[in-house]
Amino acid sequence: MTLLTGPTLCFDANPLAGPWQDAVRIETDGAVLLADSRIAAVGKAAELRQAHPQAAEQRYDGDHLICPGFVDAHVHYPQTGIIASWGKRLIDWLNDYTFPEEMRLSDADYAQEVATRYLNLTRAHGTTTVASYCTIHPHSVDALFTAAASRDQRIVAGKTCMDRNAPDGLRDTPQSGYDASKALIERWHGKGRATYAITPRFSPTSTPEQLAALGALWGEHPDCLMQTHLSEQTDEVAWVRDLFPQARDYLDTYEAHGLLGERAVYGHAIYLEPREVDRIAEAGAALVHCPTSNTFIGSGLFDMAGLSARHIPVGLATDTGGGSSFSMLRTMAAAYEIGQLRGTPLHAAQLIWLATAGSANSLHLGDKVGSISKGHEADLTVLNLSSTPAIAQRHAQAKDHWESLFATIMMGDDRAIADVWIAGARQT
Ligand code: GUN
Ligand code: ZN
Repeated sequence: MTLLTGPTLCFDANPLAGPWQDAVRIETDGAVLLADSRIAAVGKAAELRQAHPQAAEQRYDGDHLICPGFVDAHVHYPQTGIIASWGKRLIDWLNDYTFPEEMRLSDADYAQEVATRYLNLTRAHGTTTVASYCTIHPHSVDALFTAAASRDQRIVAGKTCMDRNAPDGLRDTPQSGYDASKALIERWHGKGRATYAITPRFSPTSTPEQLAALGALWGEHPDCLMQTHLSEQTDEVAWVRDLFPQARDYLDTYEAHGLLGERAVYGHAIYLEPREVDRIAEAGAALVHCPTSNTFIGSGLFDMAGLSARHIPVGLATDTGGGSSFSMLRTMAAAYEIGQLRGTPLHAAQLIWLATAGSANSLHLGDKVGSISKGHEADLTVLNLSSTPAIAQRHAQAKDHWESLFATIMMGDDRAIADVWIAGARQT
């Protein structure tokens, strides 16, 4: 058993659903007891120390904050190598940077190399769970699940399916997309800490036949997640309208093919019609805010306040490599800035909740990861709140932990990650 002691972030409720002060606490003299890869107890340091004298203590001083591990709810690990590619909007960016790089993962060794590099980079940034798109190659899915399993990391992933509007070598068919996804579900879903997400890339790259085949597959495996993109850029929305003249709107291209439901997770969702918001709310589906991506590829400003008010679960994500950072700290900062531009800035408590419990909830993993709660899996990220001279001098002047955390959110990077614990094991 291990006892982590120090300032600890605790969630009592959703801080987007009511006053954040009633929902999120920092326990200054807190403690988290880890046993058998889980959180066995949460409380005050003095009490847990006395109750568990045999536990090895890992002390973090007042310049630290013990947080849940970060959960990145929408990424494309195959795009690791092309992150921060200049000057394109979505469709040209896909054609010029993304598809050529995804083609390189036809080489299974390269896929394995990128998967390992990606998990190393994100872990160094405090991220303990991601939901990733892979490429159309089934071995790209095996590569990520295998790399995650080797470090006992909770993970969501799926084979990206595309049967049109993608280059030769990056297309499957309705049948092969169905068959390969089904085989991967059987191989990985629910094995260890793995969740499979059925993954049509987005409506422009799937025929109605492929969407229907994947909708049928989801019907046969309803405990899988279904992840895709929705209404990210205005040009894309117009393209979908041309490709699906019968559809009422973009969401309808999914809804009509069995791809709307409680375990659906839609990335971006910036340009939504009122009917789409109503249907998403009724279905209980989740949306994922990808703020660095939405500014980097010039997409637009996600309506966090409006969508949260509809009680739609929202996760937070880097959207690597459309997003310009692997860091969930940087992603929280961008979410704050977008909130500012919309006149609804998020508090540090809301930002860190989104990057942990909010994302976990959007992936239906909120009972396992994303908060420091008894019985949860022991995935923790410990922040150093004075990691650089610039942050340290602001931290020195902070009147409470919230001011200090906010400075690290706005200015922090991987240097702010003091420690990462995955399934109760300290990562080196
Ligand atoms: N829409 C379809 N594919 C992608 C992708 O890879 N990245 C982003 N940001 N949007 C997409
Ligand atoms: Zn994406």
